[in-house]
Amino acid sequence: MKRLLLTVSGLLFVSCALAASVADVKKKGVLVLGTDPTFQPFEFKGSDGNVQGFDIDIARAVADDLGVKLQIQAVGFGALMPQAVTSGRVDMAMSAITITAERAKVVGFSGPYYRSAQVFIVGAGNPAKFAWPADVKGKTIGVQANTTGQFVANDTLKTKGAVLKVYDDFAAGLADVRAGRIAALIGDAPTVTDLKKRLPGQFEQAGQSLVAEDYGAVFKKGSDLAAAANKTLARLRASGEYQKLLNKWIVQK
Ligand code: ARG
Repeated sequence: MKRLLLTVSGLLFVSCALAASVADVKKKGVLVLGTDPTFQPFEFKGSDGNVQGFDIDIARAVADDLGVKLQIQAVGFGALMPQAVTSGRVDMAMSAITITAERAKVVGFSGPYYRSAQVFIVGAGNPAKFAWPADVKGKTIGVQANTTGQFVANDTLKTKGAVLKVYDDFAAGLADVRAGRIAALIGDAPTVTDLKKRLPGQFEQAGQSLVAEDYGAVFKKGSDLAAAANKTLARLRASGEYQKLLNKWIVQK
């Protein structure tokens, strides 16, 4: 009996420790990417229904370099980070995911591939007169669940008397900003630039950014896929393709 228990726990240990590896992916012929496609220009559904964006092009380059097909799975951000990765439901996650020390305890990251920041998104003209850090008290601020925007809001805004409203879906938060139901929504800086271009006269950034951050691609902890992604990133940077992707997707103003 004791022996059996040991064997069972040994097996459990092995299956938890097994990371989706380069060899696994090559054997399947498919790299499964998990992404929350509500975050233009990084990942979003185009008018044709296809998921596209800066992250998707990078993920496709990683798959190409491995000689496999890219398969995209849409997963809400709350489920994506980190469960979809740690459970092995996806081989890789790219979703404008910020590299943090906390997250790095449970998942593996590629090197940083994009410098970003958390900022406040308000309706054009800032109807609620939201100002950071001067005028936060009593204001309702939206955050997307499980994002670094929520983490920083918990740390810094709650103590200043802001009321936090948590959204599973970033787009729902934007709709509430537009309708005046919340004073501001915390989001990633490039999404505001993109909104201003796509929907002129509807949104703007209020005040300074809350915190600067870097995005990374995410893998099971210990997986050699992270090194494969780093190799692809280095290739894209050296060949000038990375700059082309920046020009294609990310509006610089
Ligand atoms: N950068 C933030 C984070 O890592 C927000 C990312 C949200 N991404 C998305 N596709 N909805 O927590």
